[in-house]
Amino acid sequence: MRTQVCIIGGGPSGLLLSELLYRHGIDSVVLERQSRTHVLGRIRAGVLEFGTVELLRRAGVGARMDRQGIIHDGIVVAAEGRAFRVDFRQHVGKQVMVYGQTEITQDLYDAADARDGRIIHGVDAVTLNDLETDAPWVSYGLDGTTERIDCDFVAGCDGFHGVSRRSIPARVLREYEKVYPFGWLGVLSETPPASDEVLYANHPDGFALCSMRNTALSRYYIQTSLDDHVDNWSDQAFWDTLRRRLPAHIADTMITGPSIEKSIAPLRSYVAEPMRWGRLFLAGDAAHIVPPTGAKGLNLAASDIHYLFSAISAYYDGDPDLLDTYSDRALARVWNAIRFSWWFTERMHRFPGQTGIEQRLQEAEIAYLEQSEFAQKSLAENYVGMPY
Ligand code: APR
Ligand code: PHB
Repeated sequence: MRTQVCIIGGGPSGLLLSELLYRHGIDSVVLERQSRTHVLGRIRAGVLEFGTVELLRRAGVGARMDRQGIIHDGIVVAAEGRAFRVDFRQHVGKQVMVYGQTEITQDLYDAADARDGRIIHGVDAVTLNDLETDAPWVSYGLDGTTERIDCDFVAGCDGFHGVSRRSIPARVLREYEKVYPFGWLGVLSETPPASDEVLYANHPDGFALCSMRNTALSRYYIQTSLDDHVDNWSDQAFWDTLRRRLPAHIADTMITGPSIEKSIAPLRSYVAEPMRWGRLFLAGDAAHIVPPTGAKGLNLAASDIHYLFSAISAYYDGDPDLLDTYSDRALARVWNAIRFSWWFTERMHRFPGQTGIEQRLQEAEIAYLEQSEFAQKSLAENYVGMPY
């Protein structure tokens, strides 16, 4: 088999790249390890930067998002029993869209199906070959046979546990990691959201977050210890802990219900450099992981794909130079989002062994954010997303 771009990974990054390439007349094949049902069963964050919204529209998959997505003008920050808004429209003239990643992935799969896009599920033993030549090729197993794809480029969109990043020689790859000493216990419930906008709460017992997928489907998180387990948490225990960490006027009015999904996720910051090796280009979780505090995971995948699509389409239009600047351009935006997510995580969570003064310093920082137009502008421009 031959294609112009072989995309490893059928998550948001790989599917979005494939759709953008198709609309530019560039052929691709997507190799996905899991079944489509498995991919669509993943529960992920759903806050989209304005750049991500525009890119999805440009890829031709924004119609359902525009119908069903919820525009938010800001977020709510809570501490010491108080809550205040940070108004993005007022501060930076931009908004964010709440629309689940699962829905985006579904929309991308639907678009690929409508054009008979080549997405091969259930592959194994994917190997990347001759990446340092102008004729790379990919081999993979499918139903007991070994197949080969010859291509011009390989897009490593296979997430943190994929094969692509590991195909960059160890002598070349630089890795940066920070593991946070806590996790997030998340619950999905078919209840109306406790807050009209995403709410981030700092509390001496730990962080809490109130979000939503739509007006009848709420998403909540509470900070929990790294050695905790979902089985330790009844729904009632979750709701009681969540309510303790929220301001009373929200806790006392929120509607709870049975969890339809409950899981614990660790928090880490991770960046791999460079994001290119020969004809291999990494994008999304294959190259970086952010703590979910800033809702940047999917949005960074989108900006990577914006830069990568621009570089590959320019190459086929006769200008190869953007290929050489892809990694630096993508990493500049990645590191700023990593910084912002680290900054927000450090201020909103209770760290093991945190002393009284450290709690008071967090509360003082949040009080400064409440009072300062300039502090709020800074948070707003980072949360809605820096320009591509
Ligand atoms: N071969 C083929 N496919 C693979 C391989 C492999 N060796 N390894 C992993 N995959 C697939 C995974 O099954 C997954 O479907 O690659 C896909 C990677 O998708 P994601 O992990 O979702 O990463 P990405 O597409 O970059 O999207 C980033 O997803 O995990 C969230 O928080 C993250 O919101 C962010 C978004
Ligand atoms: C979510 O809706 O799942 C969500 C929202 C905001 C975050 C993280 C997760 O910062």
